[in-house]
Amino acid sequence: TTKLILDCDPGHDDALAMMLALANPELDLLAVTTSAGNQTPEKTLNNAMRLLTLMHHQEIPVAGGNRTPLLKLLETAGNVHGKSGLDGAELPDPDFKVQDMTAIELMAKTLRASADPVTLVVTGPMTNAALFLRVYPELKAKISQIVFMGGAMGLGNWTPSVEFNIYVDPEAAKIVMNAGIPLVMAPLNVTHKAQILKPEIAALKQIQNPVAQAFNGLLNFFERYHEAPKWGFQGAPLHDPCTITWLLHPEWFQTAKMNVDVDTAGELTRGETVCDYYELTGKPKNTEVLLNIDREAFINLIMTSLKTFDNL
Ligand code: BDR
Ligand code: CA
Repeated sequence: TTKLILDCDPGHDDALAMMLALANPELDLLAVTTSAGNQTPEKTLNNAMRLLTLMHHQEIPVAGGNRTPLLKLLETAGNVHGKSGLDGAELPDPDFKVQDMTAIELMAKTLRASADPVTLVVTGPMTNAALFLRVYPELKAKISQIVFMGGAMGLGNWTPSVEFNIYVDPEAAKIVMNAGIPLVMAPLNVTHKAQILKPEIAALKQIQNPVAQAFNGLLNFFERYHEAPKWGFQGAPLHDPCTITWLLHPEWFQTAKMNVDVDTAGELTRGETVCDYYELTGKPKNTEVLLNIDREAFINLIMTSLKTFDNL
């Protein structure tokens, strides 16, 4: 089994990432930490706890992260994820307590308690991950890899050249990407291929359990933002679940190793992930970049994973 910490900002696609992590016993979700991103830190924390309550996983420790990005002011994505950050679904109120510590303290506690190295999955801005590395450098060796959704090779979804998670906290992303920890990056190039198509959304409605029903409601809301013709989608891109899917089935992806760094100073490109695909810099290949996904296998995984919640 792969032990992991999920640092997320739920967020519709973060929610599905969490569902996949909990539905598949090959993964051992040790802790959930939340970042400010898709919504305010209060809302993303509350959403993570609502999701864990929905899935009957109140035993998983949860802690809230930094209230703001390292240098920038927080910008949220209410236009994509709604007022709550998880609009579209009826979710139960949290019925368990948040840990009495910060996200980075929970990360540290979790890593110290684990005999094996742990995978850190980041599906929101990298604020917590960066702070963690600065505050607890001695625990770096306990992180086997950081698998994150963020960035792009030559695309943007928030500005023409910048993806949202990196846009929110470019300085944090720069710290993480230069930390010397093996990185796996799910950029827009792959997540825009990881679409759930309209007929598949309809098929999902047939799965009757509360988790699948909640996801269906989320998807119906999430899909609307992506209906604009400019995107060219035939459904909705499922960004964050690509990270968890990589942990379960790396063989479903085409990838390339390269140096990736983050621009924090550009007039038009602050927050761009600069991907050295052609090895022009000679810098170490710090990142395995996911470029393509077996989309149908991915959708099957979602369906079978959601069905496991029939036994709740
Ligand atoms: C990323 O931004 C957020 O809105 C999503 O949850 C995902 O993590 C996509 O750019
Ligand atoms: Ca996210």
